[in-house]
This record gives sequence, structure tokens and C-alpha cells, in this order.
Amino acid sequence: MPCSKIIATSDQLKQIIADLAHKISSDYCSLENCLALVVLEGAKTFSEDLLAKMNFPIETTTIKAASYEGTRSTGQVKIDAASGLVNKIRNKNILLIDDIYDTGQTLSSIIKWLKNCNPKSIRTCALLEKQTQHAKAVNVDYIGMKIEDDFVVGYGLDYNGIYRNLPYIGVLSEKNQKP
Ligand code: IMP
Ligand code: MG
Repeated sequence: MPCSKIIATSDQLKQIIADLAHKISSDYCSLENCLALVVLEGAKTFSEDLLAKMNFPIETTTIKAASYEGTRSTGQVKIDAASGLVNKIRNKNILLIDDIYDTGQTLSSIIKWLKNCNPKSIRTCALLEKQTQHAKAVNVDYIGMKIEDDFVVGYGLDYNGIYRNLPYIGVLSEKNQKP
């Protein structure tokens, strides 16, 4: 096993996602023009399971953002938005979905970018929140689980592109990290 400790098993993730979907659905069910904006690559697995449990009409699209090299944030967020995304966002009730709220740089950069596209509203959902000093504080409306300040992998989260396919989330053991 590549992990020294399991943070959330597959069954625990299912429960966390069912609870999140319930909360989000009750807040969004009376709204029209809802758009889920999924941050790739990390939030892909989580968002697919979450969206499948939501019981109101919502359009789905993606945005790419990357800031990590190995187990460290570079502090520079690269946003890669498809052409046409700006028009899609205008006047929509946006649900921004990411895997983890760590330094906050990714979410705050995307929110800043989103505001320029004139959406009707923006709410944010992250599966995990790291208990750390967030360099950029973000008001994350829906959080699945708070975790310690460890580097975690699985269920979409990667280390240099690997371990995304693990069905659980765990702390990557030191021996699996390159110095
Ligand atoms: P932030 O910009 O520091 O908040 O980090 C957000 C992004 O960094 C997340 O969307 C993840 O893709 C990545 N990230 C942060 N912490 C971890 C981790 O522990 N494991 C894997 N990816 C992480
Ligand atoms: Mg990410």
C-alpha cells in the first residue's frame, strides 16, 4: 500500500458525498440556471459521484488548474479555461467543485477569474480542507472532511500524476515520495 494511514475509506467517502449532495440539493433545488464547474484533474472522481447524487437540474463543465509539483504548492496557479467558458458562466448559479482546500490559492484564483465572467452567484465545495494556515482565505460553503496538514492521495488526488485511482484517501508514505 502506498499510504502510511487511511484517512477515508471508500464507504466513508460514500457517506460524506451523500451528506454533501443532500445539503447542496436543498440549497440549489429552488434555483434555475445552475452550473457545476469542476476543477480538473483532482476533482474529477469526487464530482462524478457527487453530481450523480444531486437531485436538481444542473449543467456541468470543467476548468483546469494546477499549482502542485510533487508534494509542494508552487504558489503559481495556472488556469486553463476552454474557449466559450466565459459565455457559459454569465448569469449562472455556479457551484465550484474542487478536491482540496489547502493554501487556498487555486480556489481564490478561480473565484477571481469567475467574478470577471459575471455569474449570478458562486458557491464553493471542496471534498477536503487541510488544517493549515491558508495563504489565501476562501469561504468554502461545503466541505466534506477536515484533515491534518499531510500530503494525501487517492480518489482523484495525485502525486506527480499517480495514485488518483485508489478507491480510498490516505497519507502518502515517505518512502513513496522522491526527495
Ligand atoms: P491550494 O491551491 O494550495 O489550495 O491547493 C489546491 C490544489 O493543490 C488542489 O486542488 C490539489 O489538486 C492540490 N493539492 C493540495 N494538497 C494536496 C494533497 O495533499 N495531495 C494531492 N494534491 C493536493
Ligand atoms: Mg486541484
